[in-house]
Amino acid sequence: MELTQAIMERKSIRGYLDKPVEKETLEKVLKLSQRAVSALNTQPWKFAVVTGDVLKKIAAENIACVEQEAEPDYLDPETKGVYRERRVGVAIQLFKAMDIAREDRPKRNWWGQRGFRFFDAPAAILIYMDGELDETKNRFEMGTVTQLITLAAMEYGLGTCVENQAIMYQKGLREYLDLPETARFAAGVAIGYPDPDFPANSVVSERADLADVTTWYGFDE
Ligand SMILES: Cc1cc2nc3c(=O)[nH]c(=O)nc-3n(C[C@H](O)[C@H](O)[C@H](O)COP(=O)(O)O)c2cc1C
Repeated sequence: MELTQAIMERKSIRGYLDKPVEKETLEKVLKLSQRAVSALNTQPWKFAVVTGDVLKKIAAENIACVEQEAEPDYLDPETKGVYRERRVGVAIQLFKAMDIAREDRPKRNWWGQRGFRFFDAPAAILIYMDGELDETKNRFEMGTVTQLITLAAMEYGLGTCVENQAIMYQKGLREYLDLPETARFAAGVAIGYPDPDFPANSVVSERADLADVTTWYGFDE
C-alpha cells in the first residue's frame, strides 16, 4: 500500500469480522513496526499478543471491573479548552454513527463496554515496557511503535484501534499474561479484519488546521 494512502486512510476500527488473524500475519506487522524510531535505538517496547480464550478472559475481567466500578489502574488525562472540544467532537461523530442518543444511558454503557472488550476483535496487542525503564522518558517510543503497528496492519488488510481502555483495568492483564509485576503497560491495540458494515468504522475524525498548530521561522526572509 502506498504510504500517503495508508496515512490518509488509517482510522480507528471499532467493529471487526469474526475471523481469526494468523500468528504469522501479526508477526509480520510487528516486525515492520520494530523499525520505529527510538532514542539511541533503545527500542524500549515489548509486545504481548493475545487471542482466543486468553483474550476472552481478559475482556471478561475488564467488564467485571467496570461493573464493580473498580479503582482504575490508568486514567486518561483531563482535557480542557480546544483539547476537550476535539475529544467531544469525535465522541459526537461516533454516537451519531452508532445512533446513540445523549440521554440513552444503557446504549452509552454498552458502547463504553465494547472498548473494554477490545471491540470484540479477534486479537489484541498490549504494548508495555520493562519496569526498570523510566516511564516518562520512554513513553515517546511506545507511541512511535504503536503508530507503525496501525499502519503496518493495513498492509495485510487489518484494522486497529489503539486503546487506553485496554489498560485502564489491569487485573485481567496481570492475571492472564504472566508478565513480571514491574511491567508497565502503555496502551493496547485491538486488531482484526474490519467489519465494513459496522457504522462507527465509517467515522473519519477531524484534524486541526495546520496553520493553528504550526509556526514557521525563517521562510519569509
Ligand atoms: C493513546 C491512545 C488511546 C486511545 N484510547 C482509546 C480508547 O480507549 N477507546 C477508543 O475508542 N479509542 C481510543 N483511541 C482512539 C482515538 O479515539 C482515535 O485515535 C482518535 O479519535 C482519532 O481518530 P482516528 O484514529 O480514527 O483517526 C486512543 C488513541 C490513542 C492514540
